[in-house]
Amino acid sequence: MRTLFDPIQIGDIALANRIVMAPLTRNRAIAGNVAGPLTVEYYRQRASAGLIIAEASQISPMAQGYLDTPGIHSAEQIAGWRQVTDAVHAAGGKIVLQLWHVGRISHTSLLPDGAAPVSSTARKAEAMTFTSQGFIPVSTPRALADDEIPGLIADYRRAAGNAIAAGFDGVEVHAANTYLIEQFLRDSVNDRRGPYGGSIANRARLLGEVMQAVAGEIGAGRTGVRLSPMTTFTAPLDSNPQALYGHVVEQLAPLGLAYLHVIEGETGGTRTPDGKPFDYDALHRAFPGPWMVNNGYSQRLAEQAVADGTADLVAFGRPFISNPDLVRRLRDGAPLNELQADKLYGGGAEGYIDYPALAD
Ligand code: PHB
Repeated sequence: MRTLFDPIQIGDIALANRIVMAPLTRNRAIAGNVAGPLTVEYYRQRASAGLIIAEASQISPMAQGYLDTPGIHSAEQIAGWRQVTDAVHAAGGKIVLQLWHVGRISHTSLLPDGAAPVSSTARKAEAMTFTSQGFIPVSTPRALADDEIPGLIADYRRAAGNAIAAGFDGVEVHAANTYLIEQFLRDSVNDRRGPYGGSIANRARLLGEVMQAVAGEIGAGRTGVRLSPMTTFTAPLDSNPQALYGHVVEQLAPLGLAYLHVIEGETGGTRTPDGKPFDYDALHRAFPGPWMVNNGYSQRLAEQAVADGTADLVAFGRPFISNPDLVRRLRDGAPLNELQADKLYGGGAEGYIDYPALAD
């Protein structure tokens, strides 16, 4: 029987176990949106994860939506991340970077020259973001013109190359949580005409082109992707999530990706949104590669998913924040540390690198 503690090869990346650290926004980047020394220590402490998916990182200045999130578009950012990947590798871990464009979930004060955020639509989201003025409503976006899409795809491609230059083992394209790519996928947001709007195939075109570009740049075996079919976070669900995400997975299946990562239910919330069934298994059956699941997994649920083949890997978010040695604690059946929820976003070492590991 397969267990969480068995090794697995995902594409080009060999993992010591199937326990993954989920990407987690912590808003602790230093000047220039660079991963600093605290971030090096934070990830080093968590290197016993089979795989670390480092936090969502903006692919360009226009891709940022919150204060103090790291980027992967400048030389300083590449150098900062290099310290992180060196530390994780020295501790025996594997680490990929999540490539992020927030789309309309941003504010003019965070963007170059006070620019409006960009999206599939010019309609504003009902959402808040965190800026130097605190939590404030997001700004009204500008709809990207079709002839701007090649430049956007080039930003993803360049960011993927930068991630490899920074020493990452690969990247995860963030196509979840109602950020830019999902703002194209869903008909609840995307109100375009033309090649990137209307039909499911058209709405999924951007994701397909991004995946082709990223995989073309760094290799499909170093490229993963994250989806969240039933998350409402900053946008309503698609009118037919099963058909939309079924098409998306069909489109991704032939690419030979390192993995597909699916958030089940509402991100960070309920696994079974009221009266809204979704057949994740149907997606899994359509995808030939490693299948990673996430969202509110208990140890028992995770062990069961890997044992019965429902999943190849399980990503844990909040448990990895408060337990740097989560893998050992799960193996030993040791109790978990309590999460300090008021220290998730922003601040310094407290609630970041001071969670204790078990004593030897
Ligand atoms: C957040 O900053 O709240 C955030 C970032 C990335 C996600 C989800 C939430 O995918």
